[in-house]
Parts: sequence; structure tokens; C-alpha cells
Amino acid sequence: MNHVRNKIQNSKTLLGPFPTFEVQETPDSPYELFLNWFQVAYDHDIHEPHAMTLSTVDKDGNPDSRVLILKDVDEEGWYFSTSTNSEKGKQLMTTSNVSLNFYWSLIGRQIRIRGNAIKMDKETNVKDFLNRGKVARAISLIGKQSSILVKQSDFEEALSDQLSNLENNPLEVSDSWALYIVRANEVEFWQADEKRQHLRLKYFLKGDHWIKKLLWA
Ligand SMILES: Cc1cc2nc3c(=O)[nH]c(=O)nc-3n(C[C@H](O)[C@H](O)[C@H](O)COP(=O)(O)O)c2cc1C
Repeated sequence: MNHVRNKIQNSKTLLGPFPTFEVQETPDSPYELFLNWFQVAYDHDIHEPHAMTLSTVDKDGNPDSRVLILKDVDEEGWYFSTSTNSEKGKQLMTTSNVSLNFYWSLIGRQIRIRGNAIKMDKETNVKDFLNRGKVARAISLIGKQSSILVKQSDFEEALSDQLSNLENNPLEVSDSWALYIVRANEVEFWQADEKRQHLRLKYFLKGDHWIKKLLWA
């Protein structure tokens, strides 16, 4: 295994070339800058640019993280969907404090978002659920995300049952599926530099408006 450890120790990072980041010419809203950066990621063919890490905390204050899909962004916040029965769903019931992290290595960009995740209303959750593919809906209808699975065949049986169920009841909706909005209070944009002179710009929500500050790298 030593050769694998050598590979870890000798792996290179932040090689560039990277796009420029004009920190003096940034918009007043972090949502707008996020959309600008997402467009750049998209133009560079970043693989799964909408995959992000969501961090939550459990009832004892211990952090937890996992990758999720970003469903949308607007001036209200960043949206993701998941099962309210899942580990993260339970954690969010106790504390809504979360962070989101995007890292697009090819362009050396990281975005860090801190805020609160709030469950959307029932109508919105139903709409989001019905927009999902059939297998994804069938899995959600099983309703056991993150609980212990005794054997893999239990999952296959439950999935097959729910797929048949959807044949008869195509509009059935899972009660435990929810779209959440992350309302941010801090958003940091981090741009790598090949000479290690990284740029950091952070937005802070003060009352109803955002202020921007540079940070030391
Ligand atoms: C690229 C990618 C996208 C994912 N998207 C979602 C998603 O949108 N919603 C979701 O519930 N899980 C998604 N997952 C699975 C989660 O990472 C995680 O395994 C699951 O939500 C259970 O997390 P929990 O036990 O912390 O609740 C995704 C995983 C990957 C790797």
C-alpha cells in the first residue's frame, strides 16, 4: 500500500491556469456572483458543477457532511432536496444551521456558504417530488434513507414493490420528501492562484443588505 501513500503525498494541487477574479468589480449580491461563477464552471465543462457538500450538526453538536445536488438558486437562497427521515433530515429538525461547499478544481474555485436550511411548503415539496425520475421516486417512497439495511436483497424487494405501486398510483407522493432553502448569512468566494496568492472575498449579511470584505489567504 505504500505506493498509494506515495501517490497521496506526491499529488499536486492548484496547478492552474485559472480564470482571473476581479475582486473590485464584483456585484453587491453574492447570489449574482454565484451565478457568474457557476456560468464560468459550466463553460469550463466542470464535471457535475451542481454537486455540493452540505454540512449539518447533530443534536450533540457533532458535524456531518455529504454531497447533494443543488436544485436551484435565487435571491432567496440555495435549494436542495432530500428525505426528512434521513440522518441529515433529523439533524435539520434539531438545528437548521448548515454550510454548503462547492469546489471546482479545474478553475481553482471554492465557494463557502453558511446559513440556515428551511423546509419549503408542502405544495413546493410535492412539485419537486413529482419532477424526479421514477426510480428515484420509488426509492423515496420506501422512506428509509440512512436507516440500517440488513441485507441488499431487502432493498431490491422494497424497490420492486414501490415500482409496481407507482404503476398503479403514478402520482403517489412521499410525505418525507422535502425541498429545503439555505438562507445564507455569509458567502465566501475563493480563487486559487498558481503562485499561491489566492484571493478571498466574503459577503456578510448585515440587516437586509450585504457587505463585502477581502480576507487574508
Ligand atoms: C453527486 C451526488 C449527488 C447526490 N445528491 C443527493 C440529493 O440531491 N439528495 C439526497 O438526499 N442525497 C443525495 N446524494 C446522496 C447523499 O450524499 C447521502 O448519501 C444521502 O443523502 C444520505 O445522507 P445522510 O445519511 O447524511 O442523510 C448524492 C450523492 C452524490 C455523490
